[in-house]
Amino acid sequence: MIRFQISTTLSLLGLLIATPAAFAEPNLENGKTKFVVCEACHGKNGSGSKEIGAPRIAGQNHWYEERQLHNFKAGIRGTNPKDAFGVVMRPMALTLVTDQDIEDVVAYFGTLKPELLPDTVTGGNVPNGKEIFTVCAGCHGDDGKGIEVLSSPRVAGIPDWYLLRQLQNFEQGIRGTHAGDIYGRQMGVMQKLMLKDNQAMLDVIAYINTLPKE
Ligand code: HEC
Ligand code: HEC
Repeated sequence: MIRFQISTTLSLLGLLIATPAAFAEPNLENGKTKFVVCEACHGKNGSGSKEIGAPRIAGQNHWYEERQLHNFKAGIRGTNPKDAFGVVMRPMALTLVTDQDIEDVVAYFGTLKPELLPDTVTGGNVPNGKEIFTVCAGCHGDDGKGIEVLSSPRVAGIPDWYLLRQLQNFEQGIRGTHAGDIYGRQMGVMQKLMLKDNQAMLDVIAYINTLPKE
C-alpha cells in the first residue's frame, strides 16, 4: 500500500515536472545528442535507409513524429509481433526518457535537410491513383503535405516503400487496431474503405510519387 502511494506520488510529481517542460523551447543541443542513436538507421541527415526499413524522418511534420514517438513508447505502435519493423523501432523510442527529449530530438532532425529519394514502388496506375487520392486529400491535403488540424501526416516525399508497408500494416490490422491508437484507427477505416486490394495501394502510391517531394 505504502509502495503504491509512493509510486503514485512520484508519478504525479513526474507529471508536474513534465508539464512546464512541454511549453519550453526545444533544446537543439540535447536533441542532437539524442539523435546519435537514431543516425545508425535513419541516417545523418534523417533520410532513412531502405535496407534497414527505417523511413525518412526529416521533413515529416513535427507534431506527427512526436505522436509516433509517444505511441512507440506507450506500446501503441511496435508491440504487435507481426510488426517486424515497428518492433525494431520501439526500444529506440524508449531511449527518449522524457517528453522534453522527444520534443528536442524531433526539433533537431527537423533542422536537417533530407535527400530527395528515388521512387522504388512499381506497377501502379497513376490516373486510378489520382482518383483515389481525391479522398485521401481531404485529410492529407491536395499537395500531400499533411493537415495538422486533421492530425494527418505528410505523405508526399516520404519513401514509397514505407508508405506501402504502412498501408499494408493498416490493411492487416498490424497498425491502427490498438485501443489507444486514436488516429491510427481513423486511418485504418480509410484504408479499408478506399483501398480494396494491393493494386489500389500501388495506384495511390504511384500518384503520390508525382506530387512535389519538398
Ligand atoms: C535500429 C534501427 C533504428 C534506430 C536506431 C532508430 N529507428 Fe526509428 N525507425 C526504425 C524503423 C525500422 C522504423 C519503421 C517502423 C515501421 O515500419 O512501422 C522507424 C520509424 C520511426 C518513426 C516513425 C516514422 C513515421 O513517419 O511514422 C520515427 C518518428 C522514428 N523512427 C524516430 C526515431 C528516433 C527519434 C530515433 C532515435 C532516438 C530512432 N528512430 C532510432 C528503425 C530505427
Ligand atoms: C479521415 C482522414 C483521413 C483520410 C481520408 C485518409 N487518411 Fe491517411 N492518415 C490519417 C491519419 C489521422 C493518419 C495518422 C495515423 C497515426 O497518427 O498513426 C494517417 C496516416 C496515413 C499513413 C501513414 C503515414 C506514415 O508516415 O506512417 C499513410 C501512408 C496514409 N495515411 C495514406 C492515406 C491514403 C493513401 C489515403 C487515401 C486512400 C488516406 N491516407 C486517407 C487520416 C486520413
